[in-house]
Amino acid sequence: MEDLFGSAAPYYARYRPTYGQAVIEHLARALGADSRVLDLGCGPGTIAIPLAGRVKMVLAMDPAEEMLAEGRRLAADIPNIMWIRGDSTMLRALPPFDHAVMGRSFHWMDRRTVLAELDELLPPGGVVALVGPARLSGEPWQPSAQPWQPVERRVCEDFDLEISAAANCYHATEEHHHDILATSPFSDLECRTFRRRLVWDVEGLVGLQLSYSYSSPAVLGDRLHAFVEALRKALLADSPTGRWEQKLMTDVLVARRRGALPSC
Ligand SMILES: C[S@@+](CC[C@H](N)C(=O)[O-])C[C@H]1O[C@@H](n2cnc3c(N)ncnc32)[C@H](O)[C@@H]1O
Repeated sequence: MEDLFGSAAPYYARYRPTYGQAVIEHLARALGADSRVLDLGCGPGTIAIPLAGRVKMVLAMDPAEEMLAEGRRLAADIPNIMWIRGDSTMLRALPPFDHAVMGRSFHWMDRRTVLAELDELLPPGGVVALVGPARLSGEPWQPSAQPWQPVERRVCEDFDLEISAAANCYHATEEHHHDILATSPFSDLECRTFRRRLVWDVEGLVGLQLSYSYSSPAVLGDRLHAFVEALRKALLADSPTGRWEQKLMTDVLVARRRGALPSC
């Protein structure tokens, strides 16, 4: 298992925004209170932790031990999450589950194989739910969609950091998740977009940057300090107020087998 996110885990847990209550409510309604849910590529529990109070059980699986450690720390008093080290090639070794949720993680996997295996493992009403950045009316992903991103890109380029296609989530992959699902056993799709506004300061944006796999502390190595200083300086030159507003749009894609009855 490749460890892309290990050194990013503390920054991920602290600086990546939650998906917000409305997203979790929507997921909980789609999955049903009596369900056992696999959160595949769970990270530090961005979905697993808020969802645990709304379902019977969450199997939270991730290949990065550091991510799981953050999750266990944040969920110390939540009894119905089982933290499991593993990846999308190990689904058959899991205890039974009714639904699978993936938050910004499906693009790291062999997507068709995962869906074929989930088709074998999920019961008839089983749902595959994907949570991640919104697809904007079929438009290609805009790298400068957030106000600070041109600055961030410049600094990353100065440090020869490769903003990989996968790190840009599913927008930069050849085939969008929607299209992969539409030709899979889970082709009955329902998509909802949730909007929020967030305000960031410099420390938040620096922490956010270190949470990405392509600019994690492990990738930066002994250039970490210089990178942080350069980013801080460039951000403040861009916005002397030190505040940036983000319009965050999250898609929740709920995929069912055709003809399956909703499970709730
Ligand atoms: C961007 S993070 C998403 C974390 C969390 N689900 C969220 O919504 O914030 C992607 C996660 O996928 C995990 N991952 C990468 N490859 C994976 C694979 N093949 N199977 C399962 N998880 C994987 C990484 O370790 C990382 O924690």
